[in-house]
Amino acid sequence: MKRGNRQSPTLSVFARKNIEMKVKEIFNTMAYGPAPESAAQANEFLDAHNRTFELFINGEWKKAEKHFETINPSNMEVLANIAEASERDVNEAVTAANKALKDWVNLGGRARARYLYAIARQIQKHSRLFAVLEALDNGKPIRETRDIDIPLVARHFYHHAGWAQLMDTELKDYKEIGVIGQIIPWNFPLLMLSWKIAPALAMGNTVVLKPAEFTSLTALLFAEICQNVGLPKGVVNIITGPGSTGAALVNHKDVHKIAFTGSTEVGKIIRKAIAGSGKKVSLELGGKSPFIVFEDADLDSVVEGIVDAIWFNQGQVCCAGSRLLVQESIQDKLYDKIKARMEKLRVGDAMDKCIDIGAIVAPVQLKTIDELVQKGIAEGNQMWQPSWECPKDGCFYPPTLFTHVSPSSTIAQEEIFGPVLVAMSFRSHQEAIKLANNTRYGLACSIWTENINLALDIAPKVKAGTVWINSTNVFDAGSGFGGYRESGFGREGGKEGLFEYMKPRIEEQFSDKPINPAVQKSKITITDSINRTAKMYIGGKQARPDGGYSITIKNPQGEIVGEAPEGSRKDIRNAVEAAHANGKWAEMTGHARAQVLYYIAENLSARKSEFSNRLVQMCCYGKTDADAEVEKSIDRIYTYAAHADKYDGQAHQTIQRNVTLAMPEPVGVMGIVCPDEAPLLAFISTVIPAIALGNSVIVIPSESAPFSATDFYQILDTSDVPGGTINIITGPKDSLAKELAKHYDVDGLWYFGNKESSKDIESLSAENMKRTWVNYGKYRNWMNNEQSEGMEFLRHASEIKNIWIPYGA
Ligand code: NAI
Ligand code: MG
Repeated sequence: MKRGNRQSPTLSVFARKNIEMKVKEIFNTMAYGPAPESAAQANEFLDAHNRTFELFINGEWKKAEKHFETINPSNMEVLANIAEASERDVNEAVTAANKALKDWVNLGGRARARYLYAIARQIQKHSRLFAVLEALDNGKPIRETRDIDIPLVARHFYHHAGWAQLMDTELKDYKEIGVIGQIIPWNFPLLMLSWKIAPALAMGNTVVLKPAEFTSLTALLFAEICQNVGLPKGVVNIITGPGSTGAALVNHKDVHKIAFTGSTEVGKIIRKAIAGSGKKVSLELGGKSPFIVFEDADLDSVVEGIVDAIWFNQGQVCCAGSRLLVQESIQDKLYDKIKARMEKLRVGDAMDKCIDIGAIVAPVQLKTIDELVQKGIAEGNQMWQPSWECPKDGCFYPPTLFTHVSPSSTIAQEEIFGPVLVAMSFRSHQEAIKLANNTRYGLACSIWTENINLALDIAPKVKAGTVWINSTNVFDAGSGFGGYRESGFGREGGKEGLFEYMKPRIEEQFSDKPINPAVQKSKITITDSINRTAKMYIGGKQARPDGGYSITIKNPQGEIVGEAPEGSRKDIRNAVEAAHANGKWAEMTGHARAQVLYYIAENLSARKSEFSNRLVQMCCYGKTDADAEVEKSIDRIYTYAAHADKYDGQAHQTIQRNVTLAMPEPVGVMGIVCPDEAPLLAFISTVIPAIALGNSVIVIPSESAPFSATDFYQILDTSDVPGGTINIITGPKDSLAKELAKHYDVDGLWYFGNKESSKDIESLSAENMKRTWVNYGKYRNWMNNEQSEGMEFLRHASEIKNIWIPYGA
C-alpha cells in the first residue's frame, strides 16, 4: 500500500509536513507526549452529589451548617464543597459509634470478616474511580494512586478480614477497645483511612474518622461503599473538617482511643490533651529518614531508589528517604548520576500518566517547602535543580538536591515534606550510624550495599521502625509500620499492629485499691543490723544521694525500719547517664541474659529468709504471706529467664519479593516506677521483664517500703549483671517519676501508682514522645500470674522493627 493512501485526503501538504516534523522530533528527543487519564467518571460522581458533600453519621448523610472548598492542586480548580463538622456533629458521630458498638462486638469476628471482605471487593470494583478521585484531590500521580495506593487499600481490608476471622481463636485473651477516633493526613488519604479503619473494625471497634481537610473526597466515596455493603449503621462515621473538628474528636469523653497520623507538632498536642484520660493513643508522626549508600552499592539501582525515596508522592511521605548519606569515596559520582536523572524527571498534572512528580497538595505546603529551601541556601548549602521549569498553572515544585550539607543545618534536621533531598557524606560505618541517628525522629531507614553482612549489621543499629535494604518505601498490610522517638509510637499493619486496637481482657479484673496482704503484729524485733541506712545503686555501684538527705521509713505499726536515701533530679540524671553508658547488656544474646537471670534467681533463693523477714518487718506481713511473695518473685525471675531467648520475632508474609523480618528490640533506657504494694514482687515483676529483653532501667522502688529493692543490689553485685543495667533511686516516687518523664534520654516509662501522677507522666512524656505505660490508679494483684506476668510486660518492654530484605537475582 502506498504511504499516501493512509493520509487523510483533507490534510494539506503543509499539515502533513508538520506532522512529519513532529514525529521526527519525537524520534530524536524520545520525549513522551501527555497521556491524560479521563476524569469523566470522577466528575460524574462529584456531579451526582451536586459537588457538595455532607457528613456521614450513623449510616446517613447529615447536613452540616458550614462548608469549605477542596481544590485540585494540579490546576487550582475547585472540585467540591466539603462539610465542616461542628462540635455538635462530632458528638452525634461519637454517639452513633457508641450505640453501634455492642452489636458490632456481638456479631463476632467471623461475621465482621464478611463485611471487611465485602469492602475489599467493592474497593477493587471501584478502583479506577478511587484512583482518579485521589489523583484529582491530592495532586499525586494517577500512576501511583492506580498502582500503589488503591491496591494497597484493598490489600489492607483483605488482610484484616483475615484477622477478624481469626480473632476468636488466635487472640482470645483480647477484646475491642471501643469507639476509636481516627485523624488522618492528606498525603495518602484513602490508604491512611484503610490503615486505620481495617484493623479497628476487624477487632470489633467502631470508628469516627476525620480525613484531612485538603483531601476528603475518597473518604466520602468510601462512606458510600459502607452503605453499599450494608455495614451496620454507626460502625463507620466520617466527619470532615479542619483541625478544630479533629480537636473536638480528641477531647470527646466517649472516645476510647485516638489514632493519629500527621505532624509531630499536632501529635504532641494530642498526647497532652488526652493525658490521664485512660484513652489509648497511637501516633504516627514525622520523619527525616536516612538513605545510606555504601561504596559497594549498585549506583544505578541507588538512583532509582532515590527517585522512589524522595520523589514518590512529591516527597510528601512521612518515611521519605530525605537525608541521603553517601560514603565519601563515591559521593561525586553519585551526585552526577542523580543530577542526570533529575534532569529527565517530569513534573505535571497528576492525571497525566507520563509524569513522575505531580502537584504539591496545597499552596500553603508549597510555601513551606520553598521557605525551607531558601533557608537551606541562606545557611550556605549547595542547591541544585534541573534546567527545565515546572508548569505554572498548579502547585508544582521542582525536584531539588542539596549536597555537602552540614548535619546541623535546618534542612538536615527539619522535615521538609516535599521533593527536596538533602545529601551529606560519611567515611566509616560508625560515622554512617552516628549520622543516621542524629535526628529526633526514628521512622524509617534505607540501606544500600551489595554486602548483605554489612546491611544486616547496620540495620539493628539505626533507630528506626522500618529498615529497607536495597529498597525503599515498600509497604504491606502484613508488616507493621511505625516509629521510634518523635516519629511517634504504635505500629500499623502486621500482627503487631492489632494490639493498637484491642486490650487484654484481664484488665477488667483490676482493682480500684492496692491489693495488700493483711497487716499482722510484727513478731520480728528490728535489730541494728537491719536498721541501717540503705544506699542507692547507680552504674553498678552503691551511691549516696546527691542532696545528702535520707528519709525515715516506718512500717504500718509505726516502728522505724530504717533510713532510705532521698533521691533527686541530679541522681536521676546520673542514673540515666549510667544506663546509657551500659552498651553491654543489650548486645548480649537472649541466652546469655537468661543465664544471668537464672543466676539472680538462684542467689535470691539462697537468701529467701532474709528477704522474707524484711517484708515482715517493713510491711508487717504474716510470715506465710512474706514467704509467698519471695517464692513468687523467684518463680517470676525464672519465667522471664525462660522468655529471654524465646520472645522472638516473625518473618512476615508480605506481598513483595522479599523477606520481612519483624524483630522485637528493647525500647532502650527505661524508667520503671514501682507501686507501693508488693515491694519485692512488683519490683521483680517490672524490672526483670524489661531487662530480660535487653533494656537498661532506672527503677524507683516502693516509696513506703524501699528496702527489698536496696537489699537486691547485693544480689545484682554477685550475679554478673553489667553495671548500669539496673539503677535504683529511692525517694519521693511521684516527683522522681516526673523527672524521668521530663528526661529526653529516657525512651520508655512505666508508672504504677495513682491517677493524678499517671496523667502527669503521660503529659510530660509528650515532649520526646517516650513510650509510657501507666495504670491510671488501677491495681493488679501481683501474686496473680495472669494479671502480672507475661506477654503484656514483654510487649511494653520492646518495639518491633521490620527489616525488608529483597530477593531475586
Ligand atoms: P497536621 O498534623 O496539622 O494534620 C494532620 C491531621 O490532623 C489533619 O486531619 C488535620 O486536620 C488534623 N489536625 C490538625 N490540628 C489538629 C488538632 N489540634 N487536633 C486534632 N487534629 C488536628 O499536618 P498539616 O498541617 O496538614 O501538615 C503540616 C506538616 O506536617 C507537613 O509539612 C509535614 O511535615 C507534616 N505531616 C506529616 C505527615 C505524616 O504522615 N507523618 C502527614 C501530614 C503532614
Ligand atoms: Mg484537595
